[in-house]
Amino acid sequence: MTTDATSVRGEQIAVPDYLADTYWWAYVHPHAVRVFERQWLVNLILWGNFARLRDMALDALGAQLDGRTLQVACVYGDLTRRLLGRLGPDAGLDVVDILPIQLRNLRSKLPADDRVKLIHGDSSRLAAPSGSYDRALLFFLLHEQPEDVRRATVSEALRVVRPGGSLVIVDYHRPRAINPLYLPMRAILGTLEPYALDLWRQPLEDWLPQDVSLAKLEKRTMFSGLYQMLEITV
Ligand SMILES: C[S@@+](CC[C@H](N)C(=O)[O-])C[C@H]1O[C@@H](n2cnc3c(N)ncnc32)[C@H](O)[C@@H]1O
Repeated sequence: MTTDATSVRGEQIAVPDYLADTYWWAYVHPHAVRVFERQWLVNLILWGNFARLRDMALDALGAQLDGRTLQVACVYGDLTRRLLGRLGPDAGLDVVDILPIQLRNLRSKLPADDRVKLIHGDSSRLAAPSGSYDRALLFFLLHEQPEDVRRATVSEALRVVRPGGSLVIVDYHRPRAINPLYLPMRAILGTLEPYALDLWRQPLEDWLPQDVSLAKLEKRTMFSGLYQMLEITV
């Protein structure tokens, strides 16, 4: 397993403003990992749905993952370890994250395995060549990004997946009005995760690039609409 200290392009990557200003407490601060790297806490934040959402994403990617898989951004909990557990013997898993502290944390959670590469990079301008992955995963990343970055992240994920490959997106969604969490979640997200409410206001499909034709797009919502999963075939 390798971790690039700088980026694949060999350049310094600045911490984006939205992470430094809005999410410093969750990802950037040196104590963030110590506080949040607890699966029960991630599960609590997702109202008990972490395992369900994780397994839905993994199942959408496939029971056995041959070829090359890209996870865009680290995730607290055991998602990546379970992804690794599905890799075929000659397969590869790349994980790109913009924060070295998050990559170091992920490395500490994974067994040594040459099939995994941790890459310091920006989801909105991936260094990978077009069509170089068989599949990619965006797990609760888009709601943290401002619109321009979110749009670029989706576009880049689609660019690096080969034709016929898949992109799986799991993230927040506007819950149904009868969902008892509607008001609490609107208050929580509005206070702590302001960009997330964009995903309540607009369908995620609005941030897909207009000039790319997709072979298939399936969308499901879960937990009375609070979460969504998009399965895209490129
Ligand atoms: C996937 S998201 C949130 C996942 C989920 N809330 C959890 O439990 O971890 C968090 C990760 O996204 C990363 N991230 C945010 N913006 C990024 C970007 N532009 N490029 C790459 N990684 C990014 C952060 O550094 C952080 O490790």
